[in-house]
Amino acid sequence: MKIIMLGAPGAGKGTQAKQIASAYQIPHISTGDIFRANIKNKTPLGQKAKEYMDAGNLVPDELTCDLLMDRIGQDDCRDGFILDGFPRTIPQAQALDQALTARKESMDFAVNVDVPDENIIRRMSGRRVCPNCGATYHLTALPPTKAGTCDACGSELVQRADDSEATVANRLRVYHEQTQPLIDYYERLGILKTVDGTQPMDVVFAQIKAVLGKELEVSNVESRCD
Ligand code: AP5
Ligand code: MG
Ligand code: ZN
Repeated sequence: MKIIMLGAPGAGKGTQAKQIASAYQIPHISTGDIFRANIKNKTPLGQKAKEYMDAGNLVPDELTCDLLMDRIGQDDCRDGFILDGFPRTIPQAQALDQALTARKESMDFAVNVDVPDENIIRRMSGRRVCPNCGATYHLTALPPTKAGTCDACGSELVQRADDSEATVANRLRVYHEQTQPLIDYYERLGILKTVDGTQPMDVVFAQIKAVLGKELEVSNVESRCD
């Protein structure tokens, strides 16, 4: 099963993608997480990506596409994967299609987590992340058991560098200009599924499972027969 998560910054792509990846046993590939890990480790890629990310702009397609194609070529992606934050531009979507066509494959679903702009700003100001293990929390919607501390690893939670109000406003502008056209792109390919991302997290997850469910049951039966 190969799934794309679409949606504005803060729509809940990462929150849902982690759950889908765990429920259906496929790797969760977040280009944002990969860039942040590179920034943390001070790699040459991280140094290049940082200035774009800090400003809330997109990292250039050539850097992002090479990285993503390399990742989906790895062994653990043979039976599928879930992409979170890629593609983000039409050229990225075309590059993905070409790479998969060369493997005689195609994407199965593009899940659009729909959240209006006015909800986004509120979500982002409440997000807290663990700089050590990457777990994501929200001050009111998903608070950690002990305030300010990661449940999973005990590290002190922080705000993401690009979650300031001014940067979020730019990320939303960039989203509408460059990423939103992908909704029509995947609608035309017949694989778009839209869910209401303003619902509580577990309700959104149930909606996603419902739209993926039938096909997943079929693919599970097929894999059991192998
Ligand atoms: P990336 O890391 O992908 O950020 P993003 O798309 O802006 O999305 P976020 O991670 O901010 O939000 P999300 O949708 O994952 O929401 P989350 O689940 O955390 O990219 C960052 C940067 O990297 C980009 O700006 C760009 O510079 C660069 N980049 C990455 N990929 C690129 C690409 N392909 N091309 C070029 N550049 C690229 O949820 C948000 C908050 O809301 C959390 O606190 C969560 O707990 C809470 N929440 C989630 N769901 C709900 C709910 N249903 N109800 C209430 N609260 C909720
Ligand atoms: Mg995310
Ligand atoms: Zn942690």
